[in-house]
Parts: sequence; C-alpha cells; structure tokens
Amino acid sequence: MEELFSKSFLSILRRSERVMVSTGAGISAESGVPTFRGPGGLWNDFKPEELATPQAFKRDPKKVWEWYDWRRQLLAKVDPNPGHHALAALEKIVPQFFLFTQNIDGLHQKAGNKTVYELHGSIWQVRCTREAKPAFEMHENPISQLPPICGCGAPLRPNVVWFGENLPADITAMAWEVAKACDAFFLIGTSATVQPAASLPWVAKENGAIVVEINPEETPATEIADESFRANAGMILPQLVEALKNHHG
Ligand code: APR
Repeated sequence: MEELFSKSFLSILRRSERVMVSTGAGISAESGVPTFRGPGGLWNDFKPEELATPQAFKRDPKKVWEWYDWRRQLLAKVDPNPGHHALAALEKIVPQFFLFTQNIDGLHQKAGNKTVYELHGSIWQVRCTREAKPAFEMHENPISQLPPICGCGAPLRPNVVWFGENLPADITAMAWEVAKACDAFFLIGTSATVQPAASLPWVAKENGAIVVEINPEETPATEIADESFRANAGMILPQLVEALKNHHG
C-alpha cells in the first residue's frame, strides 16, 4: 500500500496545516450518479441550454423541474461511496480542512463531512423566484406539483447555480481565500473546465500549495499537479487516508 504514495508526499501532507479539497461529479460516479461530460455524462443526453439556464426556466419551468425531480429521485436512492467516506475521515485527521464542491447532490454531508461549501448550490434546496428570501430545504420526493409554488404564488426554483449565473459571493470569496492560504490542494473528480471553480488549483499552486489530482482521466489541471493519480476516487482516497494515519514522518 505504502508504495502508492511516496514517503516524502505523505510527509508533506502530514505537515500540512490547511488542506483544501475541491470535488466534482466524478467523486459521486461510484455511487451511481452520472457525471456531466465524458462517457454516460448527462450533457450527452440533455441540452444544458434547455435545462440549466435562467432563460430555460423562464421559458418552461415545468420541463426544468421534471429534470430536477428525476435527478432528485435518482439521488434519493444512492449512498456515499468510499471516496466520500474517506474525505469525512480526512476531515478528522488534518488540523484545518476545507471541502468545496461543485456537486449539488449532498453526498458529502450524507457521508459525515461537517462543513461542505457548495459552490453550485444544492438540489435539496429551493428558493422563490419573486421574493428575495433565503433558500430553504425541500425534501418532498417525488415533488407532487411541478413547478412547486411558493406561498406568494410565484414558482419556486432549485437553489442551484445555472449557466450564466454567478456563484454565491460569500462561498466564492471563501474559496479564493482558502486556496491562497492552503498548504495542500486536492482536485478530485472534476474535468476542471467550468469556471470559476476550475481556476482554484492554479490559485493554490501560485500561492505555494502542493496540488494533488485524482481522476481516471487527465484534465487541464494535470500539468500543474505535483501528484496526479489516474484512478477512481473511491479506490485511491481510502488508501491515502489509511497511509496518512500510519505515516509519522
Ligand atoms: N473518481 C474520480 N474522478 C472521476 C471518476 C471517479 N470514480 N469518474 C469520473 N471521474 C472524472 C471524469 O474523468 C471527469 O474528468 O470526473 C470528471 C467529471 O467531470 P464533469 O462531468 O465535467 O463534472 P464537473 O467537473 O463536476 O462539472 C462541473 O459543470 O455541468 C456543470 O454545474 C455542473 O458542477 C458541474 C460543473
């Protein structure tokens, strides 16, 4: 097991005070959740411009909600996989742990991670399209009325970030701040193509962090990674956490 990870690599991680993790759809793939791009990716079968933009929702809120309702029903049937569980374990063994995800599936929280910064929102939350009031949890599954309607009579929308929309300002500012300050940055299961999240590994690298990528495929970030594991997260992460626990150098 040790030889998978060099002693010097484990020592750097062990000495890392602040560890930042940025995950994408790939970490949920082994739970049976489709990714977006690549083989079996959602965008092969569905058009993002018809389902994941504010214009699409304006045009046909029922169609957009049918898609999100389908995804919620799929997600309700899946469980976190060893990759998710390993990150929950990692949170317990590193001094300062920061988990940012592009995923809206809630599987990191289900695996036990205490703090998860959701850069693209959550499929389990909704917000009113008229009133500027905070988003709230909605776990009805399947949803009885599509689109679901707010008490004020306006349609509710999924509290997720659609193409052409800004990410939550507070979480984005936090992500940049942590990327600048972290000692180790893990990029797990993302094609590193969707901005602004895709820029985070470069921010971390430019500020001196070691960058570790876990992805069966190469990505644009592979070129800056100090360690890049061509493997599934659910295979590598449990072994890495075990190796870290047993490493005292
Ligand atoms: N372990 C690790 N990585 C994996 C695994 C796995 N088991 N299976 C697939 N991958 C990798 C793929 O090789 C790919 O590089 O996960 C990546 C998934 O990439 P995308 O499908 O592009 O997903 P992501 O990067 O999260 O997309 C970013 O785009 O569609 C929008 O808002 C959506 O948050 C999403 C954003």
